[in-house]
Amino acid sequence: MRRILMVGISLIWAIALNCTIAPVAQANASPEQLAKAVEAIENLDALRSGLASTLEGQTAPPTAETMKAVCKPVGMEAKRIAQTEGWQLRQVSQKYRNPEHRPQNATELAVLEQFSANPELQGLWQRGQVNGQPGMHYFRRINVSPGCLACHGQKSRRPKFVADNYPEDLAYDFKPGDLRGMYATFIPDLAAALTESGS
Ligand code: HEC
Repeated sequence: MRRILMVGISLIWAIALNCTIAPVAQANASPEQLAKAVEAIENLDALRSGLASTLEGQTAPPTAETMKAVCKPVGMEAKRIAQTEGWQLRQVSQKYRNPEHRPQNATELAVLEQFSANPELQGLWQRGQVNGQPGMHYFRRINVSPGCLACHGQKSRRPKFVADNYPEDLAYDFKPGDLRGMYATFIPDLAAALTESGS
């Protein structure tokens, strides 16, 4: 009798687990989705490095247009990817230039703190929620390289368009190797499920 009871209880557990966990598990971002997010962020970062490197070692002073065309296009591309994929994707920095990029919640602050305390940490995944929606976060660090200093170096040397257009600017006085900020991606389970069923 006891045995039957035990089997019965485990069966109920199994059914309950199936009902509660399985649908969520199916909707979770798959390894392919996660790999896609990593690739998208690497491409985004390469876009910035490529644009910034065109300013390195230039003899002629850069024109106003070349000066403007480094991080703004990165922000626009991030918005495009987010829209196409149904993800959230933003850049976050405590020393921000564009106030849209200031940390917005305790999770972002905590992850920035982790990146700052662990220079070897490149990126991390974390389950979480945004606006009540469950999903997967992917955070990836952004470091300063020499090409960034043309606009994120000494405060007094910032290009004029930066001083003029970003009155709240905090994104200067960096050195190569400093943590500049992070990319914060969020893949809602729903978006993951839709892509899975569509592919
Ligand atoms: C030509 C000037 C210029 C160069 C060079 C440059 N940036 Fe920026 N950066 C900007 C501007 C302007 C913004 C604000 C863009 C916006 O309005 O979204 C910005 C914003 C950012 C942001 C978004 C967070 C924030 O502060 O608003 C990050 C991250 C960033 N830059 C990292 C870098 C890195 C890393 C490099 C070097 C690889 C670099 N930048 C090189 C001008 C530059």
